Amino acid sequence: MNSKTVQVNLPNSRYDIVINDSRFDFESIKELLINRKITIVSNTTVAPLYEEEVRNQLFNYTNCIYTIALPDGEEYKTQKSWSQIVDFLADKNFNRSDLLISLGGGVICDMTGFAAATWMRGINFIQIPTSLLAQVDASVGGKTAINHVNGKNLIGAFHQPQAVIINTSTLSTLPKREFRSGLGETLKYGLINQPKFSQWLKKHSSNINAQDLPTLTKLIAKCCQYKAQIVQLDEKESGIRAILNLGHTFAHAIETYTHYKTFSHGEAVAIGMVMAAELSYLLKSSTHNLRKELIKHLQDFNLLTMLSKDINAKKLVELMRLDKKVINNKHRLILLKSLGDAYIQANVCEEDILQAIKNCQY
Ligand SMILES: NC(=O)c1ccc[n+]([C@@H]2O[C@H](COP(=O)([O-])OP(=O)(O)OC[C@H]3O[C@@H](n4cnc5c(N)ncnc54)[C@H](O)[C@@H]3O)[C@@H](O)[C@H]2O)c1
Repeated sequence: MNSKTVQVNLPNSRYDIVINDSRFDFESIKELLINRKITIVSNTTVAPLYEEEVRNQLFNYTNCIYTIALPDGEEYKTQKSWSQIVDFLADKNFNRSDLLISLGGGVICDMTGFAAATWMRGINFIQIPTSLLAQVDASVGGKTAINHVNGKNLIGAFHQPQAVIINTSTLSTLPKREFRSGLGETLKYGLINQPKFSQWLKKHSSNINAQDLPTLTKLIAKCCQYKAQIVQLDEKESGIRAILNLGHTFAHAIETYTHYKTFSHGEAVAIGMVMAAELSYLLKSSTHNLRKELIKHLQDFNLLTMLSKDINAKKLVELMRLDKKVINNKHRLILLKSLGDAYIQANVCEEDILQAIKNCQY
């Protein structure tokens, strides 16, 4: 059995990310659970796989446990699903001493976190992420959200969890495509400021692609550590935390354009990172070799790197205007000087963005 703990230390909260490769390890956080009223929020895919195991473990600490299983999919990350959760909490008389637990991928983590942030102006919650993407990114750092018809994650709040419990063996049931999607966010850490991590990923690529559990447990712990370091520097994303969004403004536009049906989030992020590299070249921040190197790196993990010409590039730029980082129609994007050196570029003009997108279409 492999087990690791990563600490997140913030001015107003401190919590552990407990990573175990064979079980949901609640023992070190039992004080948060004893005699609590708990609602587990999951979905109709993950609940049948893991809810019983989680519930049985939790029965060691409390006997009042409810479960809601929402429909599965990014298209359900909506006000309606949020209402379902808070209506349930109202019905069961949940108050600030009670607890929400997410059990699922990033969609469930974000929605549960947002319900916890908003119910009674904030109740405690614990994340149990079960997808790779949620384990390396979405469950850590306290960004919670639901989507609005105008765009992704437009309704949200910063609300830190009390703990994150990761059982990496849950990845055995994750569809292969979703696993690859999680690798998109994983690679991001190497690209933004951890070049040694990119080398580590390259060295272990065959074990990672084969989903070797000890390697994945190390990989997830490293990613949580990197994310924690950045969140500790800038919890509310007023500066450096924005670099975690490498490729994301492009990705969110791609996802909105395709109604969340054609690409998973991580697939869209991988394409978005290539567009960011291309734009860095157009703005003379990097050499053209950067894009080639990045594409090779992404291909080592079977990730998509180009977008079909059927997608209207101009429309994507319009959708990018909805991004929270756009101020007075000036785009603020995360670009790359080299692999492992990301920076924030303000005042990017739309013609350059359009050209970068077009150069990444086939
Ligand atoms: N809050 C943040 O900081 C942050 C960061 C990155 C991404 N996100 C959000 O995360 C979401 C994407 O997360 P995701 O990629 O996990 O998508 P997801 O939650 O839709 O999960 C992908 C699919 O895998 C299924 N699944 C999850 N775990 C499984 C398991 N162990 N076995 C079988 N199936 C399983 C899910 O039910 C779903 O069908 C997006 O909404 C994105 O905005 C948030």
